[in-house]
Amino acid sequence: MGSLHVITHPLIEAKLTRMRDANTSSQEFRSLLKEISLLMGYEVTRDFQTKMISVKTPIMREEFPTLKEDFFTIVPILRAGLGMVDGLLELMPFAHVGHIGLVRNEETHQPEEYYYKMPEGFERSVIMVVDPMLATGGSAIDAIASLKRRGCDNIRLVNLIAAPQGVDAVRAAHPDVDIYVAAVDEGLNENAYIVPGLGDAGDRIFGTK
Ligand code: PRP
Ligand code: URA
Repeated sequence: MGSLHVITHPLIEAKLTRMRDANTSSQEFRSLLKEISLLMGYEVTRDFQTKMISVKTPIMREEFPTLKEDFFTIVPILRAGLGMVDGLLELMPFAHVGHIGLVRNEETHQPEEYYYKMPEGFERSVIMVVDPMLATGGSAIDAIASLKRRGCDNIRLVNLIAAPQGVDAVRAAHPDVDIYVAAVDEGLNENAYIVPGLGDAGDRIFGTK
């Protein structure tokens, strides 16, 4: 069974509280999401393997660790997932970015795919699926399933806020996938929004409402 990693840190908590505030502007919301994504990235990458390479310092030649893998793909679920890309890219500028476009049908709450574009050979890469909100889990489950159908077997999921229902659903559908979140909230309301949550992440990032 994949693990649930709740990444708690005073800086992350304080920034997330600002994001939850309905009076926080889109500009600040985007900046905070980028900053938290970078901070979360530190824990999301903690188990990455290293290998030794020979380096000549100004003093002598010695073996030092570097990353063993050299192919990483950040996969934002459009649109809100885009808000997490820049922070993670700052931490891993060598990573590639693939996009999956999913939108929840407002009546059924089921995700519908409208875009899919991955880097060449991405099946071999370490994949980080990113989306600020894990509500019912439908979008994440579909995104991960479509990556697996194309041969990916090293996938982790990174969310800002999760509802317990979403965590349970992803773990049931994809028991091999580790989930990283900054907070697990109380639950979902009748519109399948996370409670207390932060509202509609896409709208708040892009100022569409
Ligand atoms: C939001 C969010 C997730 C999804 C979470 O996207 O960014 O992708 O809902 O809900 P779920 O866990 O119940 O699937 P939305 O469909 O609002 O699209 P947007 O990012 O374009 O705003
Ligand atoms: N999508 C969001 O943007 N927010 C929620 O609370 C649930 C789904």
